[in-house]
Formats: sequence, C-alpha cells, structure tokens
Amino acid sequence: MPPPQPIIVDTDPGIDDCLAILLALNSPELEVRGISISYGNTVVENAYRNAVEIIRKVKHAVRVPLGIGARRPLKRQLHVAADTHGPSGLGYADLPPAGVILDYVRPLERMLEAQGQPVTLVTLGPVTSLALVLRANPALVREKVSRHVAMIGSIEAVGTQTRFSEFNAWCDPEALATVLAAEIPTEMVGLDVTRKIVLKASEIERLASSSPWLHDALRFYLEFHRKQEGLDGAVINDVLAIAYLLQPDVLTFSDLRLTVDLSDGQSRGRTKLDPKGSFTRVAVEVHPQPVRRLLFDRVLPAGALVEEALA
Ligand code: BDR
Ligand code: CA
Repeated sequence: MPPPQPIIVDTDPGIDDCLAILLALNSPELEVRGISISYGNTVVENAYRNAVEIIRKVKHAVRVPLGIGARRPLKRQLHVAADTHGPSGLGYADLPPAGVILDYVRPLERMLEAQGQPVTLVTLGPVTSLALVLRANPALVREKVSRHVAMIGSIEAVGTQTRFSEFNAWCDPEALATVLAAEIPTEMVGLDVTRKIVLKASEIERLASSSPWLHDALRFYLEFHRKQEGLDGAVINDVLAIAYLLQPDVLTFSDLRLTVDLSDGQSRGRTKLDPKGSFTRVAVEVHPQPVRRLLFDRVLPAGALVEEALA
C-alpha cells in the first residue's frame, strides 16, 4: 500500500463537516496531520467543541493536533448557519458546553510551519484561515500546500445562502478573492457536484438504533432540507472533498478562470466564470455512488463509532 497522503483539514463543524471528518479519520489512505477550526456553520467556540466530540467518536486512538483558524470574516459581519446546522452546529446531537478558546492555540499558519513535507489542504468552510496565512506568509503556503481542495462556490447550481451564492464563499468573499488571486493549486468542489451527494431520509432514519448520536445530528439537517427545499434527504456537501482524495475518479474537472463577486446584494460571494479571472480547477461532474459507498462502509455502519452517553 502507498504511504498515506498527509492532509490538513480546515473546517467549521457543521453536520456535513462531521461526516467528512469521520470519513477522513476512518480512512487509512489519509494521514490527518491537523484540523484547523474556523467559524462558519457556528461560532468558533462551538466548532472547536464539536471537533473534539467528533474525534471522540472515532474508535481507534486518534492523535491529531487541533488549531484555531479564523474567528470571523476578513471584512464582513460574522453570520452563522444556525437554521441549517442548529445553534450548536451539530443539530440535536448531545454535546458538552463549549469552552473558552485559549489564545495560544495554534492558527493554520503554525500548523503549516510544523509540516516537514508538503500537505494537501482541504477547506470545508469559509477560506478565511487560508487567506490570513496567504496575506501573512504567502511563501509558506507555496512551500507547504501542494494541493488545496475546497468545498466552496457554485457555477450553475442554486446557492445555499442566496440564489447565486454558496455559503462558504458568501461568508467571506474577500478571503476567497485572496485565495483565487494567489493561484495556488486550488481544486474547487462546489455545489454543482456536491448537490448530487444526498443521504436519503430512510438512510438517516436507520441510524436511530445503530448510531443515535449521528442520527441526532443528521435529523436536524433532514428537517432543514425538508423545510427549505422539500427534499426527502440531506445534501452532505463536505463529504465529497474527502471522498475525492480517496477515490480521485469520482470527479471530473475543467480548468476555468474564476472571480468572486464582492458586492453586497444577492450576488455577494457568487463565483463566476471570467476571462480575466484566476485559473482554478473546477469540479463539473461527479459519480455519487462510490462516494456514498465510502460513507456506508466507513462511517455509517452499526458499531463504526463510539456511542457513549455524556455523563
Ligand atoms: C457548505 O456550507 C455549509 O453549510 C456546509 O457545511 C458546507 O461546507 C455548503 O454550502
Ligand atoms: Ca462546512
């Protein structure tokens, strides 16, 4: 077997982030060198607590450094997705109170500095943490990030925040503009492909007896999708970015030139084709079945996670 791919995940857990993190940690093909936490689906204090709880669900011993990335967007007001992911970020899942985040916890920059070899950076939330490193130390990113796989943006699919804009791009369009302008090897895995990765209501319901904690997180997401778009299932966007690392042939890419809209209205955060934009590899087609299979083999089976009641 080839050596595991070293990756760092910057994430805002988040119900679909939760599934993506569990898939990464349950995949021997990946070596998760660090998890950098961002605001996004919830405030960073909750997101950090959620990451700790997610790691506690993994059956084997996990030693993964956690860091605090961005606490708020570069310029915009902080806005979290409590309607989509619940006030805690993990739906109805039982969680301890969030603690206070200590100032010395390392940001993404220090996590990258600590890497002896280049890594794949996977971003599953707003790209503020990465933009902050690019602004402070662009050479470090070029030296330590060999690939950047981002769940962000949308070309044709309807947005998750406005009609045109995907949530992660909308949260901090200035950060995305910084990342695009840097033309690091970013691969955008946006709504055009992630919307095809759906967990059906019946599949979520089946978790009630086998994985009650995950079921409690996911049933909130299911209720949201029913209310919002009448879907009898949940779109689990972030999973695709991790599944793609495990099975690269699930996605087909086009090399496109992109910009992000920095206006204030419905188009804020819209990712658009633009002949003067930055070169980006954009995922345009997906095979959903192998992605679902990875999840059903590694994260969702009965007994896959530690299911302990909180004291
Ligand atoms: C993205 O926004 C968040 O709600 C999800 O976690 C995902 O990263 C989808 O637009
Ligand atoms: Ca996310």
